[in-house]
Amino acid sequence: MRMYDVIAKKRDGHELSTDEIYEFIDEYVKGDIPDYQASALLMAIFFNGMSEREILDLTMAMAASGEQVDLSPIEGIKVDKHSTGGVGDKTTLIVSPIVAACGVKVAKMSGRGLGHTGGTVDKLESIPGFKTDLDQEEFFNVVRKTGISVIGQSGNLTPADKKLYALRDVTATVESIPLIASSIMSKKLAAGSDCILLDVKTGSGAFMKTVEDSVKLAETMVKLGEGAGRRTCALITDMDVPLGNNIGNSLEVIEAVETLKGNGPKDLTHEAVQLAANMLRLADKGNEADCIDMVNKVIADGSALECLKAMVKAQHGDVSVIEDTDNFTKAKYSHDVLSDREGYIAHMNTEGCGIASVMLGAGRETLNSLIDMAAGIIIAKKTGDKVEKGDVLATLYADDEKLFEAAQKKYLESVEFSDSPVRRNPLIYAKVDRDGVRYTENV
Ligand code: URA
Repeated sequence: MRMYDVIAKKRDGHELSTDEIYEFIDEYVKGDIPDYQASALLMAIFFNGMSEREILDLTMAMAASGEQVDLSPIEGIKVDKHSTGGVGDKTTLIVSPIVAACGVKVAKMSGRGLGHTGGTVDKLESIPGFKTDLDQEEFFNVVRKTGISVIGQSGNLTPADKKLYALRDVTATVESIPLIASSIMSKKLAAGSDCILLDVKTGSGAFMKTVEDSVKLAETMVKLGEGAGRRTCALITDMDVPLGNNIGNSLEVIEAVETLKGNGPKDLTHEAVQLAANMLRLADKGNEADCIDMVNKVIADGSALECLKAMVKAQHGDVSVIEDTDNFTKAKYSHDVLSDREGYIAHMNTEGCGIASVMLGAGRETLNSLIDMAAGIIIAKKTGDKVEKGDVLATLYADDEKLFEAAQKKYLESVEFSDSPVRRNPLIYAKVDRDGVRYTENV
């Protein structure tokens, strides 16, 4: 295969053959194809797209580029969940223990924060002692014992995605449906679960800014999952406003614990219940109403919170911070962001809110930056809320007071006001599964 010919073929809008796609992935991972040629092919895919068959080939070739986890030694159905990334999205910490408390196992590999979006592995590592780098035997044993384990992605899972993602990040080729779908689904297929729930975020804090594009991405991923024999379903959820009130690693664990105790904010609670119920549906635990009832029951009787505690203990974390979240180390300084006007919050640039949190130390500015686990933002007023002059819009937390000025500026730039009342977006726009797309708020 001449890489030049493959690039030219895609540049001219033709379909690549299965062999060409597999060879490209194989040779690129081995280092036999240079980054500049891979970049040219990615850009040609960005502009000309791929057929369903090409996306399936690309996904399978990437999934086969490294280790493929066999979860069959763990008894029962295993369900995975993936969010396309957002701000304040701590739902994995809530839905995984809920689902485990309902008797369905979750053996999950999660990622770290990326750009303005947070990552579950960083959040879990804010729990003192918590280990996210378990070997396979310990990972399986934690799932067998507690019904749930969340670890970092194993080093050898989908090396093709690791290389290609880093290249896309610096060549302006991230926002392409074939490339995002194959990147996410190759990892999910290689991670081995029987069922996959996808949380496809839409809006100003998401990679996909419109519902239409999010539905297209979800349809592509559901087809890939079902085509590979995994029950797959996607919810299209709003990321035009941060989810819940807390942004930042230990702040998000605290909010997740409150939600598992039944005291979470309304938006986060509603979304977590819907996600968890749909994971139970995928595992054939009952109809929609049964699954919602099961979820509400394990929150009300405390068994979901017990599952989280059991996982934290089994992964060497300090359970005392879950039992009493006041035991988390707090940021040294806090700073209230005040409103200089009255009105209604019309819109929040959610990416901007995420960046403000990164500026306080809650995320990485560069690949090797250290995270301040206690840093972040607690939002007091969100889209649709009425605000008086002098009201606290949000409180910023950091270990260095000098960080507040720039982060506050970024936060305030991200909040738009209106003089008249504003309608909030729906939290859930649609559900996509093998039966098609259902647009509704109540899925
Ligand atoms: N998340 C991924 O894992 N891959 C993408 O391409 C985008 C979001």
